Formats: sequence, structure tokens, C-alpha cells
Amino acid sequence: MENAFQNLLIYYLSGTGNALTACRWMVEDAAAKGINAQMVPIDRTKYPEIPALKGKTLIGFCFPTHGFGIPWYMLKFIWRFPKVKNSKVFISNTRAGSKLSKVFLPGISGWAQWIPFLILLLKGYGIRGLLPIDMPSNWISVHPGYKAKVVDSMFKRNHLIVSDFISKLLNNKRQYNYMVFAALPLDLALAPIMIGYQMYGRFLFAKMFIATDKCNACGLCVDKCPVKAIRMYGSKPYWTLNCESCMRCISICPEKAVQTSHLMATLIIIVSTMLPVYFLIFDLFGKFSSNIFNTLDFFLEWGYKILLYSMVYFLVYLFLKFKPISYLFEYTSLTRYWRGYRAPGVSAKDYYKEQNKKPKV
Ligand SMILES: Cc1cc2nc3c(=O)[nH]c(=O)nc-3n(C[C@H](O)[C@H](O)[C@H](O)COP(=O)(O)O)c2cc1C
Ligand code: SF4
Ligand code: SF4
Repeated sequence: MENAFQNLLIYYLSGTGNALTACRWMVEDAAAKGINAQMVPIDRTKYPEIPALKGKTLIGFCFPTHGFGIPWYMLKFIWRFPKVKNSKVFISNTRAGSKLSKVFLPGISGWAQWIPFLILLLKGYGIRGLLPIDMPSNWISVHPGYKAKVVDSMFKRNHLIVSDFISKLLNNKRQYNYMVFAALPLDLALAPIMIGYQMYGRFLFAKMFIATDKCNACGLCVDKCPVKAIRMYGSKPYWTLNCESCMRCISICPEKAVQTSHLMATLIIIVSTMLPVYFLIFDLFGKFSSNIFNTLDFFLEWGYKILLYSMVYFLVYLFLKFKPISYLFEYTSLTRYWRGYRAPGVSAKDYYKEQNKKPKV
């Protein structure tokens, strides 16, 4: 039987390798059917490169779920993505699955699929399928990674689900997982948390990263960050607000020197919620003007908070060169004690230093 599509092109973002693995499964299955299949990391790139393809193309977007939404970097990529002739699209988000005894539990997508769905629909794309994939959770800032046995069983189960999904799509069938619609009311209700995460949470989590004394300044984390969020000042990495908290740096550091500091998060929260400077300024301006200031109020407060996150982080960063301070922050980081996470079969060499993987046609 002739294939409904001649090309499969998947653009992906992956922090710890879950989305990358799902893309590998899809590409392998498509290639076995004789389809020209290619997966393209969007790491360190701003604008999508679309090859001149002959025949019908199925375009996929695959990425992790972050804070009940889509990572900002992936969202910008999809926003810029042009309309490609003779093509259809699908969206797949990996999310935090878990396993309780023998029962597999799903993660929560929130708006992760619906935002790109709406954008691509408005661009005029025919959307052939949506697939949330319940991979092991990689959010080790908030919980320990799972045991290898649990990870393995989740991978085996997901491999079957992903293969079934891509095979049906390539046979020209629409594939909307029923769970996508069953979870819709909950997903939509999570909008306030998703917005809160995008406005505050992601910056707070970005500023939790530190490099401990074990760091030997090898620069691997700087080179492999998908969004170029780490700067090397002297011999210590510094995490900027661009960080998407994808967990790649912490999962690939050869010295296990990267931690997410819970003491740092506590300090940032205390300072940014308790320092009264903003309210003093607000009171002063409030006396002079009213309407203009009121409308700007929300954004001023937001900007002030994010500025404080950065200032607290910067001050701590300066003091981290003193051993006792460095030890204090290392030993109060929960990630130092609990299991980490990286997808099986994925290593630092699977991530590109520069965006150098162009789709082959
Ligand atoms: C900062 C952060 C936020 C996350 N938020 C969610 C979430 O809202 N819902 C969910 O199901 N999983 C969430 N996760 C889990 C990841 O989406 C999930 O583990 C995913 O499979 C990771 O894929 P990757 O290895 O390709 O980056 C989050 C993970 C991180 C690091
Ligand atoms: S990868 Fe680890 S050891 Fe290398 S620079 Fe980054 S934190 Fe330091
Ligand atoms: S700094 Fe680390 S966690 Fe943040 S985006 Fe880069 S690799 Fe991911």
C-alpha cells in the first residue's frame, strides 16, 4: 500500500530525553515504512528551517509539558513556524507519568497542547493528531527521579502507544487520544496556574540552579543548554532568566555539580514577598497619580519581583566562591540527596552544541 505521506519531519525540544526518545520511536517506525523521516532539535535556534520536500509531509511538534503549559521556547518556535504547503501537523507533549504499584498514572497537560493547537489552526494547518505521552517525570527539583525498573516499564508501554499513534497517522487516520478530551475541563481550569508558572514560577525555578564546588568549569552545561541560558563568569556557571528548567544541565553534568538549591528558592521567596520597597514606591506614586499608575501597577509589580529574583541570585552567586557558603547551599539542596533523571539511552552527545542538524531531504 502506498504511504499517505512521503515525509515525516518532527521538530522537538527535550530536556532529559523523553521527547527525544518518543521522536526516535516515530522516526524509526516511519523509516521502516520507507518514509523520509527526520527529527530536528530546535535547540539554540530561533527560526525554523524548512527543507524543500517532495510529496506530502507530516510535521510533528514534540516537547515536554512545563507548568501545565508549553515551554516558552517551543511556543515561540511554533509561533514563528510558517505555513508549509502540502503538509499536515500533529502535536505531542511528553508529561509526568507515574506508576503506583502496577497502575500507570497520567501526567497533566493543562494548556500544553491547546495553545499550539490554536496557533497552528489559525495558521491554517490541518491537525491530524494530539498525543500526550506519559513518560517518567523529570521534575527533580520537586521530587526524586524514579527507579530504573519503573522507568523501563513506562518506556516499554509508551513505545507501543507511540508506535500505534504514528502508524495510524501515517496511514492517513486522525488520532485524537480520548484522554485529551476527557481531561479538557481540568486542563482549562488550570489556566491560572499555567499563567502563574509562566509569569513567576519559571523564573523562580531558573534561579534555583547553582554549580557547587565539584564544578571543574568544563563548560559542558553551557554548550549543551538548548536555550543558551548559562553564562560562564570566571570559572562558575551562572543561570540566567532564559533558563526553561528543562533539567538537561543537571542531568548531564559529569561531576554532578549542578543542583537546584532549595535554600536559594526560600531566600528568593522571602525577599520578594517581604521586602516592602515596592509598596513604598507604590504609595509614593499613588499619591501623585492614579489612573495611569493603576493600569501599570500589575506589570510594575511583576517586573519588580523578577528583578528581586535576579538580585538575590546574583548576591548568592558572588558568595558561592567561599567554601562554607558553597557547602551550605549544596547540602541544603534536595537534589543532592535524591535520584536524578535522564532517559535511558540518552547522553550528552545526543544534544548538539550548535544547531547543526539540518533536515535531510
Ligand atoms: C519545570 C518542569 C515543569 C513540569 N510541569 C509538568 C506539568 O505541568 N505536567 C506534567 O504532566 N509534567 C510536567 N513536568 C514533567 C515533564 O513534562 C516530563 O517529565 C517530560 O516527559 C520531560 O520530557 P523531556 O525529558 O523531553 O524534557 C514538568 C517538568 C519540569 C522540569
Ligand atoms: S557541566 Fe558541571 S562541571 Fe562542567 S561547567 Fe557545568 S557545572 Fe561545571
Ligand atoms: S540552564 Fe539547564 S535547565 Fe535551564 S534551559 Fe539550560 S539546560 Fe535546561
